[in-house]
Amino acid sequence: MAQAFGKLILFGEHAVVHGQPAIAVPFRAVSVKVTSQITTNGGIRIVSDQTLEELPISDERLSQALRVPIELALRHFQIDTIPNIVFHIHSTIPMASGFGSGAALSTALIRSLAEAIGKNIDHETLNTLVYEVEKLHHGTPSGIDNTVIVYETPVYFIKGQPIQHITIGQPMRLLVATLPHATPTYITVGDVAKLYSNNPTRIGGIFKTIGQLVEWARQALLEGDMVVLGQLMQANQYHLQTLTVSDQMLDTLCDAALDAGALGAKLSGGGRGGNMIALVTPERETYVQEALLANGAQRVIPTTLQ
Ligand code: MEV
Repeated sequence: MAQAFGKLILFGEHAVVHGQPAIAVPFRAVSVKVTSQITTNGGIRIVSDQTLEELPISDERLSQALRVPIELALRHFQIDTIPNIVFHIHSTIPMASGFGSGAALSTALIRSLAEAIGKNIDHETLNTLVYEVEKLHHGTPSGIDNTVIVYETPVYFIKGQPIQHITIGQPMRLLVATLPHATPTYITVGDVAKLYSNNPTRIGGIFKTIGQLVEWARQALLEGDMVVLGQLMQANQYHLQTLTVSDQMLDTLCDAALDAGALGAKLSGGGRGGNMIALVTPERETYVQEALLANGAQRVIPTTLQ
């Protein structure tokens, strides 16, 4: 069985598309699992939670998200004769919720294919392939989602630069709240790009400020300074609002988390729905969790940053 976890962006989403640093961590509470079964004929077939039946890879009912990673990987491994394999896919990552469902699916599928045909694939190659798939789906992704999902480690990421692993000084509790609505990332990324082209000086300044917050956050994570991290989350959320990627429900949930004693709260990922994160002390965790649910969060998933 091959698997890939989801991801959370802690700081710097959107500005990262425009060259600034961002910080992301694996989110192990959700994952995609793929099992492969070698058969004697029938080519490549896929069974997923959506299809529930075994469909050949050429079947149009299968989404591109399932087909493309396999096709790219076959090309990469220079496999001309289509192997006979059935892939069973099970995902607990909600789609378009900011947890990197697409990148995790591609990662798990390519890992599973490589295993099935007896090939090794290193992180760097896998990351390049998954990034190719991301580009087809998202237009201009920074590459942070595929990087954190493939490497499964907290990362400090700048588009086009080698990955930098980061150290988290002490375990910290984070509550992740999912919203009942989501907006595809390519839409919010496209809207931010339009804002930027209409007002490069002002919006470019906001990107730079977010980049500075990310630098401070990296240091605060290293030192395990939860109070500073909370303040940096507040500042980052404020700038995301200016970039128009927060929305009423995200703002309400952030306010509710703070009122219930969270140290900081912000949206995470593409925004306009999706998910938000709140940094909590053990004493306030239950209160914040209840406040998030009372204010419309669909689900609250506690996780530990470490
Ligand atoms: C999406 O998880 C993060 C964004 O910054 C887009 C990207 O980096 O490609 C919104």
